[in-house]
Amino acid sequence: MAGEVSQAVCVVLDVLRATTVIPTLFDCACPAVYVAGSHAHAERFAREKGYVLCGETQGLKPEGFDFGNSPTEFARHNFAGRPVVLSTTNGTKATVAVAEARAVFLGAAVNRLAVAEAVWQEALKTDSDIVLVCSGTHGAFTLEDAVVAGGYVEALVAQGNTWTLPSVDDSAIAARRLWQSDSNLLRSLLEGRHAQYLGEVGLGEDIGYCATRDNLNIVPRLTSEAQKAEVSAPVLLAP
Ligand code: MLT
Repeated sequence: MAGEVSQAVCVVLDVLRATTVIPTLFDCACPAVYVAGSHAHAERFAREKGYVLCGETQGLKPEGFDFGNSPTEFARHNFAGRPVVLSTTNGTKATVAVAEARAVFLGAAVNRLAVAEAVWQEALKTDSDIVLVCSGTHGAFTLEDAVVAGGYVEALVAQGNTWTLPSVDDSAIAARRLWQSDSNLLRSLLEGRHAQYLGEVGLGEDIGYCATRDNLNIVPRLTSEAQKAEVSAPVLLAP
């Protein structure tokens, strides 16, 4: 996991698919997304509040949930006035795990440039390191998160200038090389095991969607009930 992040600005990446789903929900007028660390917790909170219960187990909609975790399915719906509670295998758990960070943003390929700009400004303002949190799959390395993390390294370094050029560790340099190794992001994602699995269970359309670059100017940020009105795309921990 991400290690000590209490003084860092974190970007949680789960490209296939939780952190692609979250900006998509806001693009569909969702007012807030609550993330939970377990399906039972998510279900209890969603039913108590009358919110929309979404998530996945093995990539598919769990019994009793309103939606699965498919960004292409969400993109066909309007979520105005309908807060969502989301529980997934990797991305929501990773978000919960780093919730104590100085700031937490949710990033994917679809909102890379918007998130990178906001993260850079937040890190400058608070004199913080930036930690890119690759959610992985069941705790294991997953190609798509590392590739897109490299895209964030490229976008973040581009924010800098002579006086504020960031120091970048070797893992970030390796990720950036991954990102720059193929201009066709979809081809890169399809090499990964999870993308192949999603294709096998009939969710291949999601991969093309998740491979879209920089088309959503939406910056989901972890916040609190007291401050959510000040955040354009508020993500909260399900209490
Ligand atoms: C997740 O979003 O946590 C997982 O990557 C699983 C998925 O949505 O397929």
